[in-house]
Amino acid sequence: MDKVNANGENVNELLEAQAYVWNHIFSFINSMSLKCAVDLGIADIIQNHGKPMTVSELVASLPTLNPTKARNIYRLMRILVHSGFFAQQKISHGVQEDGYVLTNASRLLLKDNPLSVTPFLKFELDPIITKPWDFLATWFQNNDCTPFDTAHGKTFWDYTGHDPKLGNFFNEGMASDARLVSSVLIDKCKGSFEGLDSLVDVGGGTGTVGEAIANAFPQLECTVFDLPHVVAGLQDSGNLKYVGGDMFEDVPVADAVLLKWILHDWNDDECLKILKRCKEAISKQCKGVVIKKKVMIIDMVVMDKEKVNEENSKSLETQLFLDMLMMVVLTGRERREEEWAKLFCAAGFSEYKIIPTLGLRSLIEVYP
Ligand SMILES: C[S@@+](CC[C@H](N)C(=O)[O-])C[C@H]1O[C@@H](n2cnc3c(N)ncnc32)[C@H](O)[C@@H]1O
Repeated sequence: MDKVNANGENVNELLEAQAYVWNHIFSFINSMSLKCAVDLGIADIIQNHGKPMTVSELVASLPTLNPTKARNIYRLMRILVHSGFFAQQKISHGVQEDGYVLTNASRLLLKDNPLSVTPFLKFELDPIITKPWDFLATWFQNNDCTPFDTAHGKTFWDYTGHDPKLGNFFNEGMASDARLVSSVLIDKCKGSFEGLDSLVDVGGGTGTVGEAIANAFPQLECTVFDLPHVVAGLQDSGNLKYVGGDMFEDVPVADAVLLKWILHDWNDDECLKILKRCKEAISKQCKGVVIKKKVMIIDMVVMDKEKVNEENSKSLETQLFLDMLMMVVLTGRERREEEWAKLFCAAGFSEYKIIPTLGLRSLIEVYP
């Protein structure tokens, strides 16, 4: 039987609860250890080694390591092995030793991997983006729009528009995600582009997705539309052009509008305005050809809690992390299917289809 303390509490349950709280108190250590590994270039060093790498080989390959810190590298590696970023393999060269190897997750951190998520990590874990978390409780009690505004005295969009370093980090972070998503989109959702003559990628950043779509579908006239300072200096080529503007004012005319990772940045009223501009843009064409004009949204559809099981509970947790991030940095949110449906209906669309082929995100096609 479990022991009970002087207050009548089950001692084992008490200790379990303490361990649970500690785990949450220290969860940021996972992110920060990962950031440290990226800053030190550990995944690239192990990759370049070409075979399992012992801790002493790793230490010897870290060119800027202060020798007095060398014995702590194994501690960093131990937690990163635990969290699945590296694995260990037995190697025998006279003595049996363990060597570090990459996992699928750390392969995504390699500098030369075209689908690398490192720029995304560097942006999301930059102190400018993490500082607003310290102001979350204050924000719940003040009149500011976002904790980002409370922390920095301006909106995220003002900050990125005037601070070229953060602006570049942001654009590079988005572009790295866009490379991964467009490779999957073009592979798995080819049919969605059939019958279209033109497409505008609204809030298309520096054009990573637009360029990939333009190359994959040469018959399609692609426009990347974003804020003027984002597309300034980007060169049109072939079937791809760049247009600067404000999606709340006007969206260039096309058969289809793509909104990748746009609507989750904004609250419902702001989304309604954007969706109405998009509906106008796809309604202005009248070439006499019948095609199914549409808005193509790439965003999350938050899982129903009834469908959560042991296997997919991490996916829901990640969706909820992103939802909190949208609240802390921007005015946006991640939406459940009912919330999406309500928005589409309010913006005057009649039908939608969710194509759940992009991992944590889906392609949602919306028809007038
Ligand atoms: C989260 S990023 C997504 C970028 C890109 N679609 C992607 O997923 O890689 C949001 C984009 O919306 C753009 N944006 C913000 N406000 C805008 C506006 N009023 N008009 C047009 N674009 C805007 C930003 O500059 C940024 O490129």
